[in-house]
Amino acid sequence: MNDQARKTKMIAAFEERFGAAPELWSRAPGRVDLMGSHTDYNMGFVMTMTVDRDTWIAARPRDDGKVAIASLNVAGGGEFDLAHITPAEDAPWTNYVRGVAWALQQAGIQNLVGFDGLVHSTIPFGSGLSSSAALEIATAVMFQLTGDFELDPVEMALLAQKAENDFVGVNCGILDQYSSAMGQAASALLLDCRDLSSHPVPIASGLNVVICDTRAQRNLAGSEYGERRTQCEEGVRLLQAFYPDIRALRDVSLPQFAAHEQALPEVVAKRCRFVIEENQRVLDLAEILPYGDATALSELFAASWAGARDLYEISAPAMEAMMKAMLSAPGVIAARQAGAGFGGCMVALVGDGAIDDFARHVAAVYQADTGIHPSVYAVVAAAGAGVVEA
Ligand code: GLA
Repeated sequence: MNDQARKTKMIAAFEERFGAAPELWSRAPGRVDLMGSHTDYNMGFVMTMTVDRDTWIAARPRDDGKVAIASLNVAGGGEFDLAHITPAEDAPWTNYVRGVAWALQQAGIQNLVGFDGLVHSTIPFGSGLSSSAALEIATAVMFQLTGDFELDPVEMALLAQKAENDFVGVNCGILDQYSSAMGQAASALLLDCRDLSSHPVPIASGLNVVICDTRAQRNLAGSEYGERRTQCEEGVRLLQAFYPDIRALRDVSLPQFAAHEQALPEVVAKRCRFVIEENQRVLDLAEILPYGDATALSELFAASWAGARDLYEISAPAMEAMMKAMLSAPGVIAARQAGAGFGGCMVALVGDGAIDDFARHVAAVYQADTGIHPSVYAVVAAAGAGVVEA
């Protein structure tokens, strides 16, 4: 569906639901990380890329201080009062919208203007491409359009993260919201999660980014994600005995870590080693990505995957099957996990002219192995959040 058809469909649905045409349009994209698993909450680096899959909100301002929100993707919407924002149990997806309104108010923005809103997303839900962050950021943009205030995109990302951490209750880092707010068309972004600066990194021609969705269940609110965070924090606390100045794993070099690795409990040491090595791989990728050295890319991605599987232990049988399928496919240059792991999407770099053969092979091999039909598709870097231009 092209943008115009999408808009037409949303206008018709909006009119049917709310009895008038929408006046304002916001959008926010999903993202995929090309390197840097679980480095964000360790204040490290991530090579992130927005994808050309996004979430749109069509809206019409209201003057009664209420927000009514519905979706073309998910049944059940809801209405809430901006003067008294509470989480919804019947339609939990609306909590991303409620949470952003709440976080904006917490930041001192009291003059929010409510709206009737209809959401439509082309980001598959719960697959690790940041569908939640895209809804949060599209909501923040919409509140800016209806209200009388301006946020810079980094502030917006921080408030959306606060919504997710403190209202929805998922203790995520800044990666997803930052990427959605700040992404750039046609290049990846090297993000520094400590000072929240980023700069574009061109992707060499001949490298195509292909998402390989295992379509295996994953749930970020599950205990594993929080457990990894706690283990990293414990590592920092123990390493501070040797390096009092460190604040996060970002501050520890590999030689420094190796010198005292033995002093850490085995599991904590594995988690720390992965993060410290992965952080360096992000910086290495920033050097390689613009030139596209296939051997170096393949080695870097393979090392990231091996670490995710053996040290950080965020793999799942479906991910192992997907790796096998990706690595044996025609045209593959490099392949690794993406997002939080534990299922969800993975990512491959594929050579020009090979995408269709690659996708066919991956689907056949993966399905034969797991019985699950995967979803395999190429993505390109898209602009960060804003108004819908169509
Ligand atoms: C999820 C979280 C991010 C980040 C990644 C892992 O996507 O929302 O903050 O921690 O996992 O890199």
